Amino acid sequence: MDRIKQALVKARQEGNVGLQAVGGQTHTEMSVAVLKYEYVNTRTTELDPYLMSRNRIVAFNKNDCHSGTFDLLRTKILRKMDENGWRTLAITSPTSGAGKTVVAINLAMSIAQRTERTTLLVDFDLRSPKVANYLGLTDGKSLNDVFQGESEIFEALVNPGLPRLVILPTYKPETSPAELLSSNRTKAMINAIKGRYTDRMVIFDLPSLLQTDDAMAVLPQIDCVLLIIGDGEASRSDIENSLSDMPALNIVGVVLNKSEAVKHGHQ
Ligand SMILES: Nc1ncnc2c1ncn2[C@@H]1O[C@H](COP(=O)(O)OP(=O)(O)OP(=O)(O)O)[C@@H](O)[C@H]1O
Ligand SMILES: [Mg+2]
Repeated sequence: MDRIKQALVKARQEGNVGLQAVGGQTHTEMSVAVLKYEYVNTRTTELDPYLMSRNRIVAFNKNDCHSGTFDLLRTKILRKMDENGWRTLAITSPTSGAGKTVVAINLAMSIAQRTERTTLLVDFDLRSPKVANYLGLTDGKSLNDVFQGESEIFEALVNPGLPRLVILPTYKPETSPAELLSSNRTKAMINAIKGRYTDRMVIFDLPSLLQTDDAMAVLPQIDCVLLIIGDGEASRSDIENSLSDMPALNIVGVVLNKSEAVKHGHQ
């Protein structure tokens, strides 16, 4: 568990940055291949800038002064994922409310908008799905329909008006999330997503680790993990307990979110 402790100490030492990616050494932008993208079968929708701002989706607005933080996080994560050949990223936290969904959406937007990569954001918080809610998505098929066997994955995808970004939304809670997430159906779904969209980076917004087994059920299927810690909201033992059952996790970074230092202007 030393690496988590070290990462947190480092996050605090490096200028008390409120949202700090840990794990990379340089800020060098990746050179990436230009990928073709097209949304022949994907429905599109427009996002409401006011709603984005209210929900802290700062990466939507390139002029927002906070969006650079997510660009830095994106660069570090992509470099580490590329080095290891990883394409699927889980976002989770020890305790709930740390800011996972906000970070997941901002990161997905930053990758899609500022690189040539296509990014798919999947809402795998089947107990309390919020991605659609934060983005104001309400219409069309969703992951719920895919789980019901009433829709194919591609029918549930939505492009929120930004190039190279696709969302797989979940509109309502499922009744047995842990069973569903550990099921062969979910395994097949992840394999299908990876196989069908081979040029695509896939981000999974997961529930927190300590309250339920949901995240644990699906983490073994996902290449690597970004851990979100709400500043002051998770104790060291919370962090250690949340990861003790998963020694083989590939932690690609730790984000210290909601930093008091930022709130008090000590950046
Ligand atoms: N850096 C931040 N500063 C202040 N508030 C934040 C920050 N990041 C997120 N929040 C707020 O914290 C609340 C929880 O955020 P979010 O839903 O992203 O957390 P979560 O970890 O996904 O929660 P859950 O465990 O319920 O899925 C939201 O109201 C969000 O706007
Ligand atoms: Mg969430």
